[in-house]
Amino acid sequence: MSHIRGSHHMTLSVGGAQEDVDFHVGTLGMRFIKRTVLFDGSLPIYHLYYSNAAGDPSAVLTTFPWRQAGLVGRRGTNQAREVLLSVPSGSLGYWSRRLVEHGVDVFDTEVFDRHRVEFRHPSGIEYVMVGVDDDPRVGHAGNGVPPEHAIHGIHGVGIHVATPERMVEFSEEVFHSQGKLVEDGDRAAFRVGEDAPGNHVELIADRSDDQGTWRYGAGTFHHVAWNLETLENQDELKFEIEGGGYTDISELKDRKYFKSVYVRTPAGALFELAVTHAEGGWTCDESPHELGTRFQLPEQFEDRREEIFSKLEPIEATK
Ligand SMILES: [Fe+2]
Repeated sequence: MSHIRGSHHMTLSVGGAQEDVDFHVGTLGMRFIKRTVLFDGSLPIYHLYYSNAAGDPSAVLTTFPWRQAGLVGRRGTNQAREVLLSVPSGSLGYWSRRLVEHGVDVFDTEVFDRHRVEFRHPSGIEYVMVGVDDDPRVGHAGNGVPPEHAIHGIHGVGIHVATPERMVEFSEEVFHSQGKLVEDGDRAAFRVGEDAPGNHVELIADRSDDQGTWRYGAGTFHHVAWNLETLENQDELKFEIEGGGYTDISELKDRKYFKSVYVRTPAGALFELAVTHAEGGWTCDESPHELGTRFQLPEQFEDRREEIFSKLEPIEATK
């Protein structure tokens, strides 16, 4: 039985905080649902969360802006690279025009015989709009995006990998891939877990790029989180993964809004197994209407609130 219920969130290392807010809230019209900090280490770094109208777990993109700390990463192979976003097929033309109007270069491509719109985050991370017609998730009509065109949420992740076979093996043996592997040139696609939003994985065979960096650094994907729904599911899958010999897996970490373990996959991409537990969720410290309006800190950092806040660049979400 599979325990994976689609995507939970994706986390990216980006450059400046304000340019990241402007991109997700201003250009993409996403909903700013949480502003907090990186929980690991002691350096004050924002952790910013964006989502669709309901804040569905499968629609959340989160970012660590590293410009102030001066950390830059390198995109390459053996690394998650592409943020695949789900929009209605008929909205791809709208997004192409809107992105250009906002000064973003777009590339119209055809993958698996379907039109896609490719573009980049200001830090260089690759984003792709994929047309999906039966997506039930309601997009957030922010900053003038008409509701019928709004982004439903995450469609999946594109991972560059030198030896895709090892990642296919991992997916089949312990990560509950399903359906046929569909191939288009260097790209192979499959789904993981149950039929749930955001469960698409695309592997791009890439033997030409140098290996990308895994540490924190602007311009790189950090990890993709899958929705395990319950702590029991999470625990069972963790044991299955370890039992398969993939022992590079972390202990359980409390992320306040959810609880997670992290596993380094044979593709280099870091996978997180996330559970929004009963005491968590986006509304555990803000009402549904106030989401993202106040700076939130986990308990262990509360006594450093002033110091942390004074070290972070001010950000404004006016849109
Ligand atoms: Fe995460």
